[in-house]
Amino acid sequence: MDPFAYRNGELLAEDVPLARIAREVGTPAYVYSLAALRANYRAFADAMRGLDADLHYAVKANSNLAVIRAFAALGAGADIVSIGEMRRALAAGVAPADIVFSGVGKKTSELREALQAGVRQINVESRAELDMLDAAAGDLDRTAEIAIRVNPDVDAKTHAKITTGRKENKFGIDIDLARAAYAHAGAKPNLRVVGVAMHIGSQIMSLDPYRESLRKLRSLIGDLRADGHRIERLDLGGGYGIVYRRESNEQPFAVAAYVDMVRQETAGLGCRLSFEPGRSLVGNAGVLLGEVILVKPGSARTFVVVDAAMNDLLRPTLYEAWHDIVPVRQTAAGASTTITDIVGPICESGDYLAQNRAMPPLASGDVIAVKTAGAYGAVMASTYNSRPLAPEVLVDGARYDVIRRRQTVDDLLAMDRVPSWL
Ligand code: LLP
Repeated sequence: MDPFAYRNGELLAEDVPLARIAREVGTPAYVYSLAALRANYRAFADAMRGLDADLHYAVKANSNLAVIRAFAALGAGADIVSIGEMRRALAAGVAPADIVFSGVGKKTSELREALQAGVRQINVESRAELDMLDAAAGDLDRTAEIAIRVNPDVDAKTHAKITTGRKENKFGIDIDLARAAYAHAGAKPNLRVVGVAMHIGSQIMSLDPYRESLRKLRSLIGDLRADGHRIERLDLGGGYGIVYRRESNEQPFAVAAYVDMVRQETAGLGCRLSFEPGRSLVGNAGVLLGEVILVKPGSARTFVVVDAAMNDLLRPTLYEAWHDIVPVRQTAAGASTTITDIVGPICESGDYLAQNRAMPPLASGDVIAVKTAGAYGAVMASTYNSRPLAPEVLVDGARYDVIRRRQTVDDLLAMDRVPSWL
């Protein structure tokens, strides 16, 4: 569903005009639709029906407490990659037994805290981490339930910066070295091997790399069982692509098609499955609002300078990502368009939200919505150029609330200290 639609010439988030939120909360601001979050979750949950499976929401995509809470209330657990994310998941009401801890570089202090909290499973990504975790668990007199994240060496055919399942990527243990790593884990007194994990990348548009990886993992599970390991769980990661560009031929697979493929490929395997979607649960549920500061026509390009910038939404700069951008006041049908660069005020040529984009006429004071910004938007923001973090707003029908207040410049200054000797 797209919860952001025009009604009487105004772009709404559910039943709330985005222009009103811009006026009352200010810009830049992230706005999320609760109905869309729920609809995305339900589509997944419906597809999973009948499978022995859990959904662990990949909190990294959008870690606002209200967002995590919305999913937890529907039955989701959490996939976390840091202790910060664990604290968020716990604070939002996720039970420790529903938390899976992934990540390529967990520190001993983080492993300890996760063990003390009682997380369900730690996905280990290296032999060194097996040693660290065994030692930490021994110290605490606990047994850690682990899966090893296996790197299946499959090309997910996505952007180079978000592909993770190739041998040259830092993630997981090379599938060719996996048996030896499991043997190493099996000999550790404080670890209990329970599963195999994978995650091959993000914004993946085809089922093929998943199928290929699953087949490789299925055969590995056979070998591991023959080696005497009890493999009871299979963690499938996330990565399901979504549409960013409406007028394009982007064709992500349907969640139901993906889950059906998993159902077939894992039939009779006897593993409890775990899905870890992030983007597909939150991406289309959010927009970033910005206000046009000024328009600067040049001889080569027209620049529309807005008050939302790469520090608020890094994806266009970092991944050449396309986000549709629309004015919150609907343009008359047939209005002329101009090719523009929509840029922020930051002192970097890479600071743009869109380049060479056909846009309807825009003027100072107009509010724009950068669409599909619910995933990897607010969470990747920084305070570069001493720009405070934008607020986040959650809409539910005709009501809304600020779910993260706007940071202030005073907040920023309060963290710095000038030494007395300076
Ligand atoms: N599980 C693990 C172990 C992951 O590393 C990730 C994402 C996910 C699940 C969720 O993947 P998703 O369903 O959201 O694709 N910042 C990038 C995306 C980075 C994804 C990192 N890992 C972007 O803006 O495109």
